[in-house]
Amino acid sequence: MDQYVVFGNPIGHSKSPLIHRLFAAQTGEELEYDTLLAPLDDFTACAQGFFKQGLGANVTVPFKEEAFRLVDSLTPRAQRAGAVNTLSRLADGRLQGDNTDGAGLVRDLTVNAGVELAGKRILLLGAGGAVRGVLEPLLAHNPASLVIANRTVEKAEQLAREFADLGPVAASGFSWLKEPVDLIINATSASLAGELPPIDPSLIIPGQTVCYDMMYGKEPTPFCVWAKAHGAGQVLDGLGMLAEQAAEAFFIWRGVRPDTSSVLAELRRQLARA
Ligand SMILES: NC(=O)c1ccc[n+]([C@@H]2O[C@H](COP(=O)([O-])OP(=O)(O)OC[C@H]3O[C@@H](n4cnc5c(N)ncnc54)[C@H](OP(=O)(O)O)[C@@H]3O)[C@@H](O)[C@H]2O)c1
Repeated sequence: MDQYVVFGNPIGHSKSPLIHRLFAAQTGEELEYDTLLAPLDDFTACAQGFFKQGLGANVTVPFKEEAFRLVDSLTPRAQRAGAVNTLSRLADGRLQGDNTDGAGLVRDLTVNAGVELAGKRILLLGAGGAVRGVLEPLLAHNPASLVIANRTVEKAEQLAREFADLGPVAASGFSWLKEPVDLIINATSASLAGELPPIDPSLIIPGQTVCYDMMYGKEPTPFCVWAKAHGAGQVLDGLGMLAEQAAEAFFIWRGVRPDTSSVLAELRRQLARA
């Protein structure tokens, strides 16, 4: 049977096996999908061992940059992102790296949530790997402006310089944020520690503002709670992004695009029971 895995460390918590098995059942594709705990100091050997047999893999924390360096070729979006979350063994045996995180976020926003991005003012909180992966697909939708705000401002400034050729992107510190925007995306890992990014209390959240946290959990994240309390029109978490980046990977491997709505509903049910 065709073999796929998700590499990470830790990896026990990963929902990718469930998602891909549901996709496989839905589309009638015959495949096996498991977790693979890679050693922190030897991802490369672990990946090379798997690909003697395996056809494809997802890559999660902390190996996305190592996967970027490992592959024989990169898709343009993975090249821009500087990180790989999807590996495919090509027919000639070469390993190709792609990055589906940005496509997953944009599809969740525009298709699942019906959020229009063209002409909108976007505020991205954070300047880590996730932000690097979503900048190109967000800018491709022609927002009026895109501000990257980060605790370490220099990292936001660096990203703004790197992506300036793709659209109106600027950098900021958290305390400088005053102007209302149409969409706020929390791509900091603050929620992992149960914290809120240090957003200036004077930032106005108009009623039409959409607030999106890339994190998700059984309970609303601190950012989602903050957004609701400040009157955001729509508050969304990152479970849809997770399902959509997986669907994009599945499409790359199998040439079939699964329907994510039933899978997302099952993920929500399981999360509520956890
Ligand atoms: N739903 C999905 O499918 C999906 C996909 C990818 C990522 N994610 C989520 O996105 C988040 C970011 O991931 P990443 O890979 O970009 O992580 P990362 O590369 O480690 O970057 C972390 C970012 O968070 C900032 N940060 C951390 N703690 C903070 C705090 N207490 N207050 C303010 N800023 C803080 C860091 O700021 P400094 O630069 O100042 O340290 C940095 O910008 C994670 O929560 C991850 O789970 C979700």
